[in-house]
Amino acid sequence: MRFEDVQRMAMIGAGTMGAGMGMCYAQAGYEVALYDVQAAQLPMALERIANSQAVLVAEGLLPAEEAEAARGRITTTTDLAEALDGVQFVLEAAPERLDLKQRLFREMEGLCPADTILATNTSGLSITAIASACQHPERVGGQHWANPAEIVPLVEVIRGERTSDETLDVIYRVTEKLGKVPVLVQKDVPGFASNRLQFAVLREALHLVAEGIVSAEDVDRTLKNGVGFRYPWLGPLETADLGGLDTFHSVAQYLLPALSKMETTPEFFDRLLEEGKLGIKTGEGFYRYEPEDRDEILRERDLYFIRQLKLIRAIRGW
Ligand SMILES: NC(=O)c1ccc[n+]([C@@H]2O[C@H](COP(=O)([O-])OP(=O)(O)OC[C@H]3O[C@@H](n4cnc5c(N)ncnc54)[C@H](O)[C@@H]3O)[C@@H](O)[C@H]2O)c1
Repeated sequence: MRFEDVQRMAMIGAGTMGAGMGMCYAQAGYEVALYDVQAAQLPMALERIANSQAVLVAEGLLPAEEAEAARGRITTTTDLAEALDGVQFVLEAAPERLDLKQRLFREMEGLCPADTILATNTSGLSITAIASACQHPERVGGQHWANPAEIVPLVEVIRGERTSDETLDVIYRVTEKLGKVPVLVQKDVPGFASNRLQFAVLREALHLVAEGIVSAEDVDRTLKNGVGFRYPWLGPLETADLGGLDTFHSVAQYLLPALSKMETTPEFFDRLLEEGKLGIKTGEGFYRYEPEDRDEILRERDLYFIRQLKLIRAIRGW
């Protein structure tokens, strides 16, 4: 399969991620067949797409006529064979279970020509393990998006042990065509690159709270106003270069041994789960949330991300 030959794609799973990703494919000019096992998910996904597009249009990130044309490129179905008919590229966003994904990939392979690219948006399951269900694992690779898919620029492109160079190249170039920022992950390691970085920070954040060094509020305040404030512009390695590698090297000598190396979650975190405190969806996690504030908190988050995206796009000339 060549990048230039990809015209039509199937989005497998129309949940949180499938809707946002399908929308991005349609906006980039691809014909999209949106598939789900649950018929009720399909109109809900279309509604979510229309709502997300309305926000992007209002913020000047998407011309209204392009939004409408993109919606016209999306069809929906609960029939897998119909979804895969005539597609050159498949992106799977079904629930995060290895057995389910393996079954799905085996079935999809039987319904597609041998060169159709099969990509998965798995958060962290092994691409190699998913591909092992296929006769042609060389055409399976990772395309890992972040939520909200239509806003966050990063998409990781992951090489499984048997992914071919050709497959990886197509997934990478399709990602670029979507207007996303691809990062090539050359080894199929747990968490790929972005979740490894995110969870390295989370481990230290949990440690600081568990040890009573700073409060949960102050962990978040520290990140948002210090290290994290710089991150949209400077990554950790650029930060070190600008700060001076001699200084960062000296600090690393005494600080790395002092950082948390915990391999299990701390007790206070486990207790939150036992008490059913799962975050905003149950009204309490590390913080408390009033039910009437929930939608507004999520709306404000998306609006902030959109404005940040506009700023970055304007500065970098995307
Ligand atoms: N939500 C996130 O923040 C996020 C971020 C990155 C990656 N992911 C990954 O994306 C994938 C989907 O996550 P989500 O949050 O959209 O889940 P979700 O539960 O919102 O959506 C999953 C959809 O898959 C459908 N489904 C169930 N069985 C199916 C099958 N056999 N074939 C096709 N569809 C099926 C469900 O009906 C549902 O609509 C998972 O692998 C997840 O780990 C999620």
